[in-house]
Order: sequence, then structure tokens, then C-alpha cells
Amino acid sequence: MSSMTTPIAVGMVAPSFALHGDARRALSSSEARGRPWVLAFVRRWSPGADTEAIRAELRGLGAILFIVSDAGVWSFRPDDDLELSIAPSRQLRREIAALGARCGVGTRDDGVLVVDDAGIVRFAHAPSSELTSSLADALDAAGRELLGLPTRPGITRRDWAVMSLVAGFGLVLFHGCGGRGTEPAAPTTVVAKPGTEIEVVLRINGQDRRLKIDPRTSLLDALREHLALTGTRKGCDHGQCGACTVLRDGHAVNACLTLAVAAEGAEITTIEGLARGDRLHPLQAAFIEHDAFQCGYCTSGQIMSAVALLREGRSKTDDEVRQQMSGNICRCGAYPNIIAAIQAARKEV
Ligand code: FES
Ligand code: FES
Repeated sequence: MSSMTTPIAVGMVAPSFALHGDARRALSSSEARGRPWVLAFVRRWSPGADTEAIRAELRGLGAILFIVSDAGVWSFRPDDDLELSIAPSRQLRREIAALGARCGVGTRDDGVLVVDDAGIVRFAHAPSSELTSSLADALDAAGRELLGLPTRPGITRRDWAVMSLVAGFGLVLFHGCGGRGTEPAAPTTVVAKPGTEIEVVLRINGQDRRLKIDPRTSLLDALREHLALTGTRKGCDHGQCGACTVLRDGHAVNACLTLAVAAEGAEITTIEGLARGDRLHPLQAAFIEHDAFQCGYCTSGQIMSAVALLREGRSKTDDEVRQQMSGNICRCGAYPNIIAAIQAARKEV
């Protein structure tokens, strides 16, 4: 492990690390191999029932988790069991102290680093930072800070993946690491034991909908499985296809990457909420008129993204529209007609 004097900060290339302890084989950050990863310093970690909840988060997000604790270094890959990669030893303690120093985390403190799939630090918390003093609080603060932001035009799918990553781990690690519970201070602050249902009120298409859900439920599953709003499609369930696009306060988001609890307090619009009685939204009418679909599976997501695109009003040319719609995949290849429909509807919205 090379020495490093600059403290790790958001936006930096993530530090590479390799921990050996007394083991022959090192555990290293390169094992993430292009996936998002989380390095969590959780001193009092002990694996428990919560590991299943953490596994669910890892699977959903394709992330790998490294837990550095007094009980050794654990790794958790999406499709594998939680594994004690390096047993505790004096040598390991030295290595952990050095890694903690590089991350600004003291030898008795908890801290967390969230790294995206491009290897960039997207969230860093050390007790000395101005946030709070525990890992649970840090994740809570990160989730609120990130998810509480209005969706900006141009926000990327990677942003959403990282937001969900932070919020998702926030939910499960609250319990898993024995972090301190806090009173809910904002709609996105949830302290709940995984597997316990909680009550949320979602404002969907102008109506408040009250439901009881597992706190890990995505907005997509809440819509489809709990509210029977199946117009929002599930394609990849990983933020890759855009089939699940809905509007959150007027901006397009992937419902599969949004926790339902994080959508409390926001105005959610789905495809079912676009028409006014028998009168279709101009984009719905234009998609029909321009034959902008074949199988139709991607269509609701395409239309919701297009509604946000026209509302934001930045993309004007065909190339700009193509670029902004690039997160919505159409396996039938109806792209030329989709562009034509969007351009035709532009005058009417
Ligand atoms: Fe959400 Fe594919 S289902 S992006
Ligand atoms: Fe079939 Fe787009 S119309 S996937």
C-alpha cells in the first residue's frame, strides 16, 4: 500500500488498497472490477441476520462491500456469501490503521467511503468531517443529502445508482452495525429493521397513497406490486434500460433505483397520470400517430422521459433529443419514430 498524504475527498480517484494480515492472499480494492464498492470501517461489526438484507442491497446494486472491523476484514460480493477474508492479527491492525489514516478515519472510529463504478469517490465520511460521528449517522446524512436534492437536469444514472447505494446501505447497516437510531428528521430518514414493514405515504398522480412496505422496496415495486400501477415497466431492474422511468417532481428518474421511502414528500407522476380523462397527453398521441413503438414494452418509459425532456426545454435538435433520450433503450429499434414523435409533440406541450 503506497503512502498518501492528501486526504481522500469526494471527486477523487478512489484509493487502491491491499490488506494481507497474516493471510497468504491479499484482499484488494481491485476485486471490485468496475463495480461500485463501499469500504466501511465498522469497528464493532459482527455478522448477523442483517447479512441477508445487505446481500439484497448488493445484488440490486451490483456493488461489493468491504467491511473493516476488529473481527477482521470481511468482503461481501453480490452473488457470494459474506466472507471473512482476513482474520484479525497484529499485522492486519497495522494495515487497517494505515488505510484508515489515508481515509481520515481514526483507529477507533467508524467511517465509510462510497466509490462508483468509474472508481471515483462519491461519498466520504470520517468522524472528523463536519457530518456526524457514527457510520449510521453518516449514511443517514448521505442519503438525505443526496436523495433530498431535486433531480437536476442531466443527472446521470450513475448518480442515481450511488444515491441508492448510500441510502440502501444506510437502511441495512443501521441495524447491522449497531449504529445509533435517530428520530426521523426528513422523509428520507428511515430507521427500521430489515424485513419490518413500515408505513409510507406516496403522492402518486396527484393522490396520496398509503402503503405498508419493506423499507428496501423500490419505487418501481411499490408502484407495480403494491399499487397495481403496472404501466411503469420493469426491464433490467438495474438502471440500465429506462423502462421504469417516472417523474419525480417533474424530473425523470429510474423507479428501479429509487427507494420508495425516499420518494415520500415528492410528487410522483407515472404514465397513468398523464392523460386528462379521455384526452391523451400530446406525447401519447404523438407516439401513436408516429408509430413510435412496436412491442410497446419500453414505451411508457420513453414517454415519461420525453415529458421531462420537453418540460426542461434544453434539447432542441434531433441529435440533442437522441442524446438526452439515450438512457431509454428500445430493443425494437423504434428510435427514428420516437424522435419524430417527440419533435412533433414539442409544439403542443
Ligand atoms: Fe429501471 Fe431498467 S427497469 S432502468
Ligand atoms: Fe419494443 Fe421499444 S417498442 S422495446
